[in-house]
Amino acid sequence: MQALTYQGATNVAVKEVDNPKVEQATDAVVRVTSAAICGSDLHMYDGRTEVETGKVLGHEIMGVIQEVGDGVKQLKPGDRVVLPFNIACGDCYNCVRGFTNACLTMNPQMAGAAYGYAGMGPYNGGQAGFVRVPFADFNALKLPGEAGDELERDFLMLADIFPTAWHACELADVQMGSSVAIYGAGPVGLLSIMSARLRGAAEIYCVDMIPTRLDKAREMGAIPINFKEGKPSEQIAALRHQSPLAEALRPGEEKRLEGVDCGIDAIGYQAHDFSDPQHEETQEVLEDLAAVILPTGHAGIIGVYMNDDPGGANEDLKQGIFKIPFGTFWAKGITIGTGQAPVKRYDEMLRDLIIGGQCRPGTIITHEAALEDAPEYYRRFDNREEGMIKVILHP
Ligand SMILES: NC(=O)c1ccc[n+]([C@@H]2O[C@H](COP(=O)([O-])OP(=O)(O)OC[C@H]3O[C@@H](n4cnc5c(N)ncnc54)[C@H](O)[C@@H]3O)[C@@H](O)[C@H]2O)c1
Ligand SMILES: [Zn+2]
Ligand SMILES: [Zn+2]
Repeated sequence: MQALTYQGATNVAVKEVDNPKVEQATDAVVRVTSAAICGSDLHMYDGRTEVETGKVLGHEIMGVIQEVGDGVKQLKPGDRVVLPFNIACGDCYNCVRGFTNACLTMNPQMAGAAYGYAGMGPYNGGQAGFVRVPFADFNALKLPGEAGDELERDFLMLADIFPTAWHACELADVQMGSSVAIYGAGPVGLLSIMSARLRGAAEIYCVDMIPTRLDKAREMGAIPINFKEGKPSEQIAALRHQSPLAEALRPGEEKRLEGVDCGIDAIGYQAHDFSDPQHEETQEVLEDLAAVILPTGHAGIIGVYMNDDPGGANEDLKQGIFKIPFGTFWAKGITIGTGQAPVKRYDEMLRDLIIGGQCRPGTIITHEAALEDAPEYYRRFDNREEGMIKVILHP
């Protein structure tokens, strides 16, 4: 089969590799119909991880069951499925508590496994013709309809970024009536807007600098904030003070307008400097979150912060040591939530919202391409080409 493989920093290539097989009785092999490129793939593409040469990339995968082992009871060839990016056993201490992002048995190196990802176990990804799914009954979510139908793009978002965005809202405690600031209008940030609206947020701000992404954020119901025009926390406070809410507050309560209840970092450690966007600046977003989140609020840091980063700008950053204004977080009593999303926890519920016509997460997809053109799309996506938000590939 053809597969997109990692060949070194900024170098990926489509190669002919062996088809995956059923290795354990509980495995299935899925014929991939769509696989997305993720902002997370770019950390590897940029040479910021220790991913091995030749690894097949891709952790946002859907398709049709091709073959199952004797131990697979719930699935049969021909079933349409999407694969949560976390690979989990379903039985360990963390899996039974719903933390499939920290499965203790699937990755010999650490807690948590995934398809086609640096440090996440020996599993190939799904930017390929076929992919092997361990413990398939647990790790594949059944879908209605036919491959390639009108919900294909929406269902593909269930592999990672829609449940990830939902998890960001869980971490940030977005509730009915909340005010929310989302940093980053990439796919995760945009679907955090969608999730926050589904959860009943009253007011949503979304920060970025790319005009088409900010336009999309506005279209999806957020107030766009361009960080090139000044510190986001200050822009947000100024806008909040103009809100009609100001008239309804009692003396002293104006402090509610200085920020928001919930802050989401949907950027991660490769954030751009607010005043010099050519450069990376890891700290500023965390500082601005501390500034913008109101006392007793919540921060959902869903963007990735690597614990070792060969491309880090200094010794601390190389070891994953990031400076944060902890005193401000503490003084305000802000709860900080981090980590990988436990996709399976939310996936059935989000699938049913899609089936019920309540949301169309696939509307953030801007480009569809053949697998053989993947290297070109990696390059363009890595350059954050204007107008390119989410790319999906068809083997
Ligand atoms: N925790 C998880 O389980 C999980 C899952 C999927 C993705 N992620 C991570 O989420 C992050 C976002 O993913 P994505 O696919 O949306 O990526 P993306 O790179 O397409 O989006 C990031 C956006 O942030 C913007 N940005 C950069 N610096 C900024 C700054 N200082 N202020 C405001 N905006 C800024 C960029 O212009 C870009 O639009 C990545 O770090 C990705 O690895 C985490
Ligand atoms: Zn992803
Ligand atoms: Zn487990």
